Amino acid sequence: MQAIVYTEYGPPEVLQLKEVAKPTPKDDEILIKVQATSLNRSDWEGLIGKPLYARLGGLRRPARSILGSDIAGRVEAAGAKHTKFKPGDEVYGDILSQMGGFGEYVCVRGSVMALKPAGLSFAEASAIPQAGVIALQGIRDQGQVQPGHKVLINGAGGGGGMFAIQLAKLYGAEVTGVDNTGKLEFMRSLGADHVIDYTREDFTKSGKQYDLILDLFAHRSAFALARALSPTGSYFAVGGSVTTLLQIALGGPLIGRRTGKKVRVLIVQPNSIDMATVAELCATGKIVPVIDREFPLSAVPEALQYLGDGRVKGKAVIKVQPG
Ligand SMILES: NC(=O)c1ccc[n+]([C@@H]2O[C@H](COP(=O)([O-])OP(=O)(O)OC[C@H]3O[C@@H](n4cnc5c(N)ncnc54)[C@H](OP(=O)(O)O)[C@@H]3O)[C@@H](O)[C@H]2O)c1
Repeated sequence: MQAIVYTEYGPPEVLQLKEVAKPTPKDDEILIKVQATSLNRSDWEGLIGKPLYARLGGLRRPARSILGSDIAGRVEAAGAKHTKFKPGDEVYGDILSQMGGFGEYVCVRGSVMALKPAGLSFAEASAIPQAGVIALQGIRDQGQVQPGHKVLINGAGGGGGMFAIQLAKLYGAEVTGVDNTGKLEFMRSLGADHVIDYTREDFTKSGKQYDLILDLFAHRSAFALARALSPTGSYFAVGGSVTTLLQIALGGPLIGRRTGKKVRVLIVQPNSIDMATVAELCATGKIVPVIDREFPLSAVPEALQYLGDGRVKGKAVIKVQPG
């Protein structure tokens, strides 16, 4: 089978399209013929090996040779002890713990996959797993957004942010989206009531306060972030620089004791039930999985460069099978 492989951290040029062995499912696994794989920031981080947490399991060289974690495809075969899916089922899921979505076939445990709703294309379904679950757990579970809440989403023009804006609006919040100049219109089109260009304005210095800040790109000091929270507000960092995430993890409880505000790192729990909740909202048209661009498997390096350059609005998808 064909796959995009790499053996060293670096720019997209280290990726190569190669012929590799087609995997065989273990007893508890299914073999999936991958139709579409959406890109995540974690693919870019896994390629370049930064921030440091991207090297977990492979400090000097990547532990896995094929990236790609949010997949949708058809079950081609099931292991002898597998009972959840059968050949022909159309499934989608998050395989971040093992990767392998930039290849024509992958073997996975069935527990991380769910049946694809008939109303969604493979590309749309592949856009949901990580980004949708980040948004649902940030907005609904940890954020507990209620009608009238003022919610700010930092990094709102990317994958997680695209779903977070729409979910916060669905729960009745007044939403502010923060991202670069090229993504302001995109955030408005998703329903953001206010937008801030991070290249021109620091939202922690505006004097405005929010009931919830969901931060997909944490890089400001925990104290500055706390200032932007209402007296009972909560801040959750999902991704960002390791230094900032550590500062928030260590300093957050101290800030909480002093101010009563919640400042935390959100550890997202991959979960096929949450994934299916977001997919159902997409299938029924309540929210939209926006796909900015589709690329063929051979163009994974170009697609990752597009993501690394900060140009993806919502999600970019690799159509692993042509047509
Ligand atoms: N905590 C967990 O358990 C967990 C689980 C899964 C993933 N993650 C992490 O979650 C993060 C976000 O995921 P995602 O898929 O939504 O990423 P994404 O699609 O890359 O979106 C991030 C957005 O942040 C923007 N951004 C960059 N610099 C910014 C700044 N200084 N201020 C405001 N926005 C800025 C980016 O815009 P540009 O285009 O300008 O760069 C991009 O639009 C990733 O770092 C990922 O590794 C965490």
